[in-house]
Amino acid sequence: MRCLAVASEIYPLIKTGGLADVVGALPGALGAQGVAVRTLVPGYPAILARLGKPRRMLAYDDLFGARARLLAATVDGLDLLVLDAPGLFVREGGPYGDATGSDWPDNWRRFAALGRVAADIAGAGVKGWRPDIVHAHDWQGAMAAAYMRFDASALPCVVTIHNLAFQGRFPAEIFAQLKLPSQAWSVDGVEYYGGIGFLKAGLISADAITTVSPGYAQEILSPGDGMGLDGLLRARADRLHGILNGIDRAIWDPVNDALIARPFSARAMGARGDNRRALEDAFGLDHDDAPLFIVVSRLTWQKGMDLLVEAIDGLVEGGGKLALLGTGDRPLEGAFLAAADRHRGRVAAHIGYDEPLSHLMQAGGDAILIPSRFEPCGLTQLYALRYGCVPVVARVGGLGDTVIDANEAAVAAGVATGVHHAPDDGAALGRAIARTIALHGDRAGWRAMQRAGMKADFSWDRSAGRYAALFADLIRQAG
Ligand code: ADP
Ligand code: GLC
Repeated sequence: MRCLAVASEIYPLIKTGGLADVVGALPGALGAQGVAVRTLVPGYPAILARLGKPRRMLAYDDLFGARARLLAATVDGLDLLVLDAPGLFVREGGPYGDATGSDWPDNWRRFAALGRVAADIAGAGVKGWRPDIVHAHDWQGAMAAAYMRFDASALPCVVTIHNLAFQGRFPAEIFAQLKLPSQAWSVDGVEYYGGIGFLKAGLISADAITTVSPGYAQEILSPGDGMGLDGLLRARADRLHGILNGIDRAIWDPVNDALIARPFSARAMGARGDNRRALEDAFGLDHDDAPLFIVVSRLTWQKGMDLLVEAIDGLVEGGGKLALLGTGDRPLEGAFLAAADRHRGRVAAHIGYDEPLSHLMQAGGDAILIPSRFEPCGLTQLYALRYGCVPVVARVGGLGDTVIDANEAAVAAGVATGVHHAPDDGAALGRAIARTIALHGDRAGWRAMQRAGMKADFSWDRSAGRYAALFADLIRQAG
């Protein structure tokens, strides 16, 4: 089976969040299931820099006004098709906006181009290679499904939702430039609340929709979490599947991680202490045995970071310490820096993006705080579980699906792996922090919880099998 994946991020080349981790890990996991994946990505500078001597596959004189080439190369074992269109993708700043955080005004053009090229590859193939199925990720990949549908493509297309909060909404005026047939301007096409919705267009056009946990697949059917798309999703519920993300166990492996101070395993946990000390040093925190909470997160409303700001004083008064790594909304960044000033030695914040430091934090922290208001899957709690860092999570989406609360029954059965609290509730977060500090006081109980988490299997094997089975079904139906 040959699959063309379409995405805007891929670890280790370009990453702003978990999407990149998933898109980077799936090809290897699907490969083991007999699915050969090639991934179409935009030619961002960070990607072009890694291509070496790429092969030229296609050329466009005018792709939505830009000159473009399709290049093929294998980088870090990933089989890439790169849309090299400097006018669209080579600029200073991030993948979606400039250095000040404003979205690029031509994002519609950039990601319509990505979808158009995916549909071209699905239609005619490139240099003798043609996929059997297309797998588009999030709004940036979603137009692939729409173009394929209006091309009357014979191939099936799956769209995966990683986060419904990002939808790719644009004004109606761009419709003429999307080069779609006029009937695409309808509620059954790209039209979305009077404008254009890329994710919406993909979801209504896809042969199947997946999202990244069973819990989130349920939640998005309700108006509260559906973010305007719940009606569409309810109408297509028979085609919606929740397939839990896995983790790349080679990259996140405490026994074999060059980015941490000292390797450790569930059987030899003593070495965790060295990582803890290295983490305290990296953050300028006091050396002591107080429960050390960590945060590795985008600093946004989704992640409940405003609730955490409110909970910090209580965390410190209760005897805890906090090391936070993140970037995001400026007021939240400022609030965490102010808390660090207030509680020197007890609270520290690194505002920035630092992949190696995130590994050391998982290896040295006692507990990770993830008070998300919604969480499609979440990967940091899965990394934490593998590293013996106990997740303290809001009971939503993939967090609820992957962490087992330390209630009395779970503790008695020896299966507890973390602490749950009600979402969107600062008082509940405060109580969860207090409960975690109390649990940490019982050394044997805490060790048992760490070990249960480290034993949990969140590898990609099972989920990749589900994707492969879904792909095979759709290909059979299409043929
Ligand atoms: P989301 O994709 O919503 O941000 P996930 O938990 O799925 O949430 O994935 C976040 C990914 O980004 C994880 O790999 C996490 O370790 C990483 N990450 C987030 N913020 C930072 C940061 N400031 N520095 C390093 N890694 C980060
Ligand atoms: C999104 C979600 C996150 C998920 C990630 C990968 O960024 O916010 O919950 O883990 O995608 O699927």
